[in-house]
Amino acid sequence: MTSKPRLGFLGLGWIGTQRMQAVAESGLADILAIADPSPEALQNASRIVPHAKCVQTIYQLLELELDGIVIASPSALHADQSIAALERNIAVFCQKPLGRSLSEVEKIVATAQRADVLLGIDLSYRFTRGIEAIRDSIHAGELGKIYAANLVFHNAYGPDKSWFYHPELSGGGCVIDLGVHLVDLALLLIPSPVTAVSSRLFCKGVPINPVSTGRVEDFAIARLDFASGATAQIACSWNLHAGQDAIIEASFYGDCGGASLRNVNGSFLDFTAELYNSTSRKLLAGHPDSWGPRALLSWVRRLAAGTRFDCEVNSVLRTTAILDSIYQRS
Ligand SMILES: NC(=O)c1ccc[n+]([C@@H]2O[C@H](COP(=O)([O-])OP(=O)(O)OC[C@H]3O[C@@H](n4cnc5c(N)ncnc54)[C@H](O)[C@@H]3O)[C@@H](O)[C@H]2O)c1
Repeated sequence: MTSKPRLGFLGLGWIGTQRMQAVAESGLADILAIADPSPEALQNASRIVPHAKCVQTIYQLLELELDGIVIASPSALHADQSIAALERNIAVFCQKPLGRSLSEVEKIVATAQRADVLLGIDLSYRFTRGIEAIRDSIHAGELGKIYAANLVFHNAYGPDKSWFYHPELSGGGCVIDLGVHLVDLALLLIPSPVTAVSSRLFCKGVPINPVSTGRVEDFAIARLDFASGATAQIACSWNLHAGQDAIIEASFYGDCGGASLRNVNGSFLDFTAELYNSTSRKLLAGHPDSWGPRALLSWVRRLAAGTRFDCEVNSVLRTTAILDSIYQRS
């Protein structure tokens, strides 16, 4: 593809509008159309892209001549909407979670592969400068053999939209919402098969089994054991008495050094990454860092370059399998 990709945006709530604005400002694509069943959401988004056609459904969107669609609808819709686009040879960039379970995600990835169409997912924390710097340090051997990791995402507010609290619409609570990023980072930076997963999930302070209760968890702790001998601890929550807006951390410890990404002063956006050696520390990456839309902009650039199915997306299968295990579905 030599010209700018022609894109449609589906789902223009909180994240969909932010991501659309970033693409509009980048000038990397032509935003031909936007779709949302909510007239208010459409009206709000059309202020940013006044020339884009406004429609209500994915089917109206798919009738247009589009190269790709960007999906940011409630999570339960991601699978059917992604498949509907991919089957028409339209590239897809979908918000996380790509699907609610491994079986949904397998169908989406298989459809993209069969159609040989680019599929991307907004696992945005991978694209922070801090995680990129930690990855470089690990690859350069500065941590040695990694044997432990600690990954945390506590959101002291929790989502303000009701659909997040209905498992049939969201696929789950804080694990599928926030833990998905932590599992993704653990698997990205500890390249070894996971041999065991254990977890405890809570709702309002009471241990639950979400499969049998039909409620979503608001606190979870999980442990992943890797074939290499490494162990990762994962904790995430909504509405925790955290003493600040958010606690976000991804720390990795090896026999030669450690490295950690941490949010600054409870921020959801600002991070620092440091490299540790015994009691000394070195700054790897600071803030500000406009990392939020980077996953999407990377997908747009690859689409513009004519990239077809990219097997890099297969990593979502492993991540989703771990999420299923944390939910004790497998
Ligand atoms: N990558 C990230 O870090 C990140 C951050 C926030 C949200 N998300 C994900 O983005 C998605 C949206 O989250 P949000 O907070 O923006 O939610 P939201 O409720 O603010 O927005 C969802 C939008 O989808 C619209 N919608 C409802 N039914 C639809 C349909 N059939 N087709 C198209 N649109 C429809 C709603 O009207 C709404 O405007 C969720 O899957 C969430 O997990 C990802």
